[in-house]
Amino acid sequence: MGTITVRNLADDVKQKLRERAAARGVSMEEEARDILGKSVLSAGAAAAPEGETLYATIRSLVEPHGGFDIALPRRSQSAANRMTLSAKRILLIIGGGIAAYKSLDLIRRLRKRGASVRVVMTSAAQEFVTTLSAGALSADHVFTDLFDRNDEHDVGHIRLSRDADLLVVAPATADLMAKLANGHANDLASTVLLATDKKVLMAPAMNPRMWSHPATRRNRATMQKDGIAFVGPAKGEMAESNEAGEGRMAEPLEIVAAIEAMLDEKPKPLAGRRIIVTSGPTHEPIDPVRYIANRSSGKQGHAIAAALAKLGADVRLVSGPVNIADPAGVKTTHVETAVEMKDAVESLLPADAAVFVAAVADWRTANASGEKIKKVAGKGPPALQMVENPDILASIGHHAQRPGLVVGFAAETQDLIGNAEAKLRKKGADFIVANDVSHASGIGPSGVMGGDRNKVRIVSRTGVEEWPEMGKDEVAARLAALIAERLQATVV
Ligand code: CTP
Repeated sequence: MGTITVRNLADDVKQKLRERAAARGVSMEEEARDILGKSVLSAGAAAAPEGETLYATIRSLVEPHGGFDIALPRRSQSAANRMTLSAKRILLIIGGGIAAYKSLDLIRRLRKRGASVRVVMTSAAQEFVTTLSAGALSADHVFTDLFDRNDEHDVGHIRLSRDADLLVVAPATADLMAKLANGHANDLASTVLLATDKKVLMAPAMNPRMWSHPATRRNRATMQKDGIAFVGPAKGEMAESNEAGEGRMAEPLEIVAAIEAMLDEKPKPLAGRRIIVTSGPTHEPIDPVRYIANRSSGKQGHAIAAALAKLGADVRLVSGPVNIADPAGVKTTHVETAVEMKDAVESLLPADAAVFVAAVADWRTANASGEKIKKVAGKGPPALQMVENPDILASIGHHAQRPGLVVGFAAETQDLIGNAEAKLRKKGADFIVANDVSHASGIGPSGVMGGDRNKVRIVSRTGVEEWPEMGKDEVAARLAALIAERLQATVV
């Protein structure tokens, strides 16, 4: 059976699913898939359906009940099960947080891809998941104590930290981050992290206030400077009721992708190239509580940043406000407005290439109010005065430090090619990735903006190349390959 992603569940269903998943030590997606798989079988099917049939069956089963939105990534089962981590040794440090249950699923997924997984658990982690479960899934002893010379399995923290190809901390709590940022070593997890000579990947998970606390931000910046990689956290609902924001641990599959990218030893065509990518919408404030925005999810821009990083590029992503995690292996700057995005992009020059995927708001209010605008009886709605935002692509396309390759996007609802060609000339781009964002595009109920699929045409001075409809990840991989090809042809 393929993998499914569960989104937009009604709150009560989501809570039930979360509890069931936590009790079984699996992810919410896994639990939903099992429930649906069972109902498919009990409905009389001879065998669990696969691929497209499964997708259609799940849809027909759950759609009448509402609340579920399930999609199968266009990834074949064989692709998901490929031994991408064959013979790799992962040391997984599980910190104490509710997200620890997802780490059990992570162990399973890593082993499925051929990795061997050794687990270290902090004492707080053992309040959330048991060493028994982690040991059963990793098929190895689980290490918990710094001083346990009587333990027949004791291999010592130095060996533990060196006998791995990669150390992964998931969930990385605020406490574990603070320890490593400041060089503390007072338990097995922190000692192993300090003693290692291997790469470290952190998947933070904590309450949004803890994540946005200046101390945590400082610790993260310190660790990034020390070369430690991060995946997530994402925005979303927290396990605690009525808590939402940035702090949810990245999903196991996202962590697996980050691990695969970090351990990939194939020669990288974009190694040594700096590439700027913009992604997501911009928010233009009206007053402290209201803003002008658009439907961009950031999925396509983030996927392109990740695909370029996979090819070895030093990717600098400038992202507007989105609800998805920062891509692994990418340095991300978060901005709100078009003006902030332009400043951030300019501060990242010089670069070898720049890809402008963001759906930048064309206008902003001339004077955003410092106070909340109140309704006044009989006065009617306020007249918003708008001014034009800077065109970031156009300014970089004609900049004194213009990158060697400049790629723009064109979101159009009519005359796709004509408008894209006009933007190519006006904005000084080398090519424009044109997509039809009208409902007539035929792409899913949510369309291109916010959806998972895209159909694009590559418009350049030499002509128009039409790509078939595909997932946004596939568009990203193909575009990254095209950028690598163009940059290789560029004399440096
Ligand atoms: N873009 C930009 N800065 C802006 C507006 C757009 O960098 N202020 C970039 C987008 O990231 C994209 C390209 O320009 O790469 C085209 O964006 P699009 O919204 O399609 O076009 P606009 O220039 O905004 O024109 P219009 O809305 O009239 O189609």
